[in-house]
Amino acid sequence: MTVVSIGRQDDIAIVTVNNPPVNALGQALRQGLWDAVETLDADPSVRAVVLICAGRTFIAGADVTEFGKPPVPPHLPDLVNRIEAAAKPWVAAIHGSALGGGFEVAMGCRFRVALEGASVGLPEVGLGIVPGASGTVRTPRLAGVEAAVELVTTGRPFKADRAQGLGLVDAVVAGDLEAGAVAFARKALGQPLPPPISARPVTSPAAGWWDDQRKAIARRAKGEVAPLRALDCLRVAAEKTFAEAMAHERATFLDLRASDQAAALRHIFFAERAAPRPAHLSGVEARPLRRAAVIGGGTMGAGIVAALRDAGLPVTLIERDADAVARGLANLRSILDGAVKRGKLTEAQAEARLAGVTAGSDYAALADADLVIEAVFEELSVKRAVFAQLGKACRPDAVLATNTSYLDPRLIAEGLPGPERFIGLHFFSPANVMKLLEIVPTPATAPDVLATGFALARQLGKIPVQAGICEGFIGNRILKRYRAEAEALVRQGTPIAAIDAAMRAHGFAMGPFEAQDLGGLDIAFLQREGARAAGQDVPETLGDILVRAGRKGQKTGGGWYDYAPGDRSPKPSAATASLLAGQIAASPAELTAEEIATRLTGAMAAEGQLILTEGIALKPSDIDLVEVHGYGYPRWRGGPMFAQGLR
Ligand code: 3HC
Ligand code: NAI
Repeated sequence: MTVVSIGRQDDIAIVTVNNPPVNALGQALRQGLWDAVETLDADPSVRAVVLICAGRTFIAGADVTEFGKPPVPPHLPDLVNRIEAAAKPWVAAIHGSALGGGFEVAMGCRFRVALEGASVGLPEVGLGIVPGASGTVRTPRLAGVEAAVELVTTGRPFKADRAQGLGLVDAVVAGDLEAGAVAFARKALGQPLPPPISARPVTSPAAGWWDDQRKAIARRAKGEVAPLRALDCLRVAAEKTFAEAMAHERATFLDLRASDQAAALRHIFFAERAAPRPAHLSGVEARPLRRAAVIGGGTMGAGIVAALRDAGLPVTLIERDADAVARGLANLRSILDGAVKRGKLTEAQAEARLAGVTAGSDYAALADADLVIEAVFEELSVKRAVFAQLGKACRPDAVLATNTSYLDPRLIAEGLPGPERFIGLHFFSPANVMKLLEIVPTPATAPDVLATGFALARQLGKIPVQAGICEGFIGNRILKRYRAEAEALVRQGTPIAAIDAAMRAHGFAMGPFEAQDLGGLDIAFLQREGARAAGQDVPETLGDILVRAGRKGQKTGGGWYDYAPGDRSPKPSAATASLLAGQIAASPAELTAEEIATRLTGAMAAEGQLILTEGIALKPSDIDLVEVHGYGYPRWRGGPMFAQGLR
């Protein structure tokens, strides 16, 4: 395959890159572009060059699969310099996304023209690195330090119109990108050329500005090093010469590329991309999904309806009676109102989301649903009654799913006519926000029904992970072990606040106890009580002692901690200390924050190992995805299995 081909429109050469799937800058492409510059420099009939890409996107970056290998020339920074030094002006014609090395190549060009809706960005910090081919050095010279700091340290791409406003692209065109870029090139040839970006001046803000940025980024980064190292590169770029800044950026890039954080982030990057299309389902066609339905409009049901509507599916919502229907719709409206308030949806979009929902209590409305997701109370008898009705009301080929957290899906499906269409789809709260979807087939589930679960995840933009049947599936089972280990530390005399602080320092947004106070201790308590009532031997937990004393978390003014009215910040609690006093070792174990984190993440990995041995998870990276996307495990540590070297 020719990755780079050269065509002509009279005196304008068209260099087309074709390196599917995303035109990543592997060695062959770098060499092809280098050769194209040489060829076109030597051709006197060419006055300008348009660089355009075939397929779904402009160059989406360096080839990440090459990162573990020794670099082979031509190196990307040299290529970008070579394009910039070309005898004829190059015009990058951008569709899809110009990311990382792709945007760096575009900055080597004299001009950048973007198709409407395209985006440009430097997402390297998301891979634990900094841009390595002048992104931190040319961006401030192109668009100023402030835009560069935002682009590089957040890693979030800018859409074409915003990019144009900041000077990152010179023009935005609609319709035919190649024609637009050629017209732009012809016009540009009639005017004096701007200097190449490397020769443009840059003004550094005062030292105080940099210090403020550093503080803000450190707060956001929670232990992730790349964003701060990127800021350092940008400061060097603003204060030193182009050559000095290039050398500094390159050294930082090479250093970080070999770091543990970068390896962890690459692991998650590839795991996320592999998750939606598991190998064991290749060739299995999913059932069509045109109309969905949700039973139960509570916390989860309303969130699932919102997620389905975000993906454009019409939804039928079934509740118990007219009052419950009204409450379910109110729950949905409050989710949509929240999205409008946060600027995620316009009023009109929120109205359209709502207009696509038909709500009622008559199961006859489900006759044409392709997929029904049950999200009613977590009680076997209630769920079974729902599926008995679904068995009668739905088409025999409709996929019927349960969102149960802990019940055995096999028991829920007992007696259902056509059990091959039944599956567990475990969403996480809030269901329209959280990316994780555990997909739980029963032994009877048909392969195309399982494939439909994955197809749904793709449609909703979720990260699907297949889980086998056990209490809590993958995520909640590991959560239970994690909490038990945290309680074991408390019993050994480690202060509750020290445990939470250690996990925050490890990169979690919250520690295990403050998280329970936020979510409520009573949910897990009731589940344990249920198991005890069913005759299981469930030892008393410290959480049980607190709930029995009325301490259910923030909603009761206290749980593991105390909370002042209207204040969500946890305060160590004398009441908790006295309730638990009899359970805590007299001579406390003095653990460092690191030892605490090692104990707790080690317990997660140990449970993960059991889960793998039992076949509940198919591979270690699935467990890592569950923890990163469902439970706040720091992405840059790669998940509990990766962190323990269990890959
Ligand atoms: N290198 C190698 N493979 C890549 C890749 C890259 N940079 N980017 C994507 N891919 C692969 C994916 O693994 C996937 O492979 P598969 O089909 O075998 O599973 C395939 O391309 C398609 O990827 P997506 O499923 O993500 O495709 P989408 O169409 O949904 O998204 C995209 C396209 C927005 C370009 C998205 O792939 C993306 O964000 N890619 C990463 C971009 C990035 O991080 N670039 C910076 C790289 S680092 C760099 O450039 C360093 C430089 O400064 C020196
Ligand atoms: P909820 O109590 O907020 O909502 C349940 C809804 O089901 C109520 O609106 C109720 O009116 C309705 N309902 C009850 N019986 C019904 C019936 N026969 N027909 C129609 N509607 C009926 O409960 P929540 O939190 O939404 O949980 C629902 C399910 O999702 C449970 O199985 C739960 O374990 C699971 N789940 C909950 C999560 C959470 O964080 N809340 C996370 C993941 C799963």
